Amino acid sequence: MTNSIKKPLTLEKNIRFVDRVLLLSLPIAFIFIFMVATGILSASLAVISYATCVIFNIIFLFPVTYELQQLKQYITQMSKGTDVDALSLALEENDSKEIINAVNAMHKFWSEKTDELEAQALSDTAVLDTLPDPLMMIDENGIILGANLAARSLFGKKIREKNIDKIINSNNFINAIQRILNNESDSEALVFYLTKPIEQKLYAHIKKLPYVSKGNAIAVISIYDLTKATKIEKMQSDFVANASHELRTPLAIISGFIETLQTSAKNDQDARDKFLSIMKEQAEYMSALIENLLSLSKIELMQDNLPNQKVNLPKLLNDVAQALALRAKENSSDIQVFIDDELPEITADYNQIKQVIQNLTDNAIKYGTPNNDIIIKLEKADEIPSAPNLKTESGAAAAISITNKGPKISEEKLARLTERFYRMQEHKDKNIKGTGLGLAIAKQIIIRHRGNLTVKSNAYTGTTFTVYLPLHLGE
Ligand SMILES: Nc1ncnc2c1ncn2[C@@H]1O[C@H](COP(=O)(O)OP(=O)(O)OP(=O)(O)O)[C@@H](O)[C@H]1O
Ligand SMILES: [Mg+2]
Repeated sequence: MTNSIKKPLTLEKNIRFVDRVLLLSLPIAFIFIFMVATGILSASLAVISYATCVIFNIIFLFPVTYELQQLKQYITQMSKGTDVDALSLALEENDSKEIINAVNAMHKFWSEKTDELEAQALSDTAVLDTLPDPLMMIDENGIILGANLAARSLFGKKIREKNIDKIINSNNFINAIQRILNNESDSEALVFYLTKPIEQKLYAHIKKLPYVSKGNAIAVISIYDLTKATKIEKMQSDFVANASHELRTPLAIISGFIETLQTSAKNDQDARDKFLSIMKEQAEYMSALIENLLSLSKIELMQDNLPNQKVNLPKLLNDVAQALALRAKENSSDIQVFIDDELPEITADYNQIKQVIQNLTDNAIKYGTPNNDIIIKLEKADEIPSAPNLKTESGAAAAISITNKGPKISEEKLARLTERFYRMQEHKDKNIKGTGLGLAIAKQIIIRHRGNLTVKSNAYTGTTFTVYLPLHLGE
């Protein structure tokens, strides 16, 4: 607490004090001069008496002046908003004590009011911070006076006192703000797009406040994120379009065979067995396709919920390797697991990570050159490699790589591997089964974990997919 009121009186104040003593002693001086002039008093006695009067004046005036001075300093400090303690002076029972009591009462009232206002402001901020949608207030120049937590998380912590057009650079939005600031409109509603930090479709409602005094908020901007709703809408229509397209082929095959079985092959036992086995294969493909499509849309809807399970990666990798060992053997391959670095348990979704590793290992078996081992390796990485449009967590990561021998995949094809339904022509030609959704699902799962998936391929070492997962997700 600041309390400079106990400072000794300054020279300037002493001069004023001396002035006051002299002024008070002036009438007595005139009386003594008159008495000496009329011979009532001798000059020497008059000087001694006058000096005594002055000394008495000093003794009586000093405490009063001192107290007044203290009082003045104290009130000045209070008026400047300085946080001061209650005024305490060793006072005699006199008038200034009453003044000081009154000032102290005022100080108490002022402190309580300030505390009350601070508490009110804090609770208002806390309430605004609980709102899920961004909210900002601007003044008559478009300067942001306040922003709730959602706005600060979306646009950055230090947006206060910045001009709104430096924060949101959409032309539509800036024009709407201008109309409000120029008093051309009382409220505006618009959809606009942000490209940074991530691509977003937003809806803004700008409402002018009914009355404002100078320097206060002139308008309130509330923002709603439409990205998710639009994404869900698009996902639903994509889902229907893709699913119907992909299901049409096996369905056409099955109904073609049913027709043949009902007509020309009705009594052909060999043809029936052959056709039934193809129909079974197509039905299995359809069921895998439906399962993968559902899995994909389910994961996309979970994108904003961070996983929260503790996952022991070495165990997960060994479990997957064991489960797929038989399938690898069919290709005369073994799956080898190398745990290169001791890592702590990571925060992840166990089933989802298992699904990723299973698909990558399954791909390595399906598309790798037979008679070559598949290598699964767990290492520590200092950082997750960043990628455009990907929100990766900073800091150390677990890097799980799955390598198989095989022909080099061209850069162009590598870039398309995670596209939905993309399958390389040579694999389709070889009639290797697959829906073309495994890597798209893996990518979505990794995005949910704020990680990354990279792929490298060359003729000598083969193809390596690496999954990066943050070691300390959400911490
Ligand atoms: N290790 C790999 N080596 C060579 N090509 C690969 C490898 N992994 C994937 N691919 C290619 O990428 C395509 C997409 O893989 P993805 O896992 O998404 O689907 P899929 O394996 O065809 O189907 P599903 O995963 O449903 O069984 C594959 O069809 C294949 O052409
Ligand atoms: Mg696959």
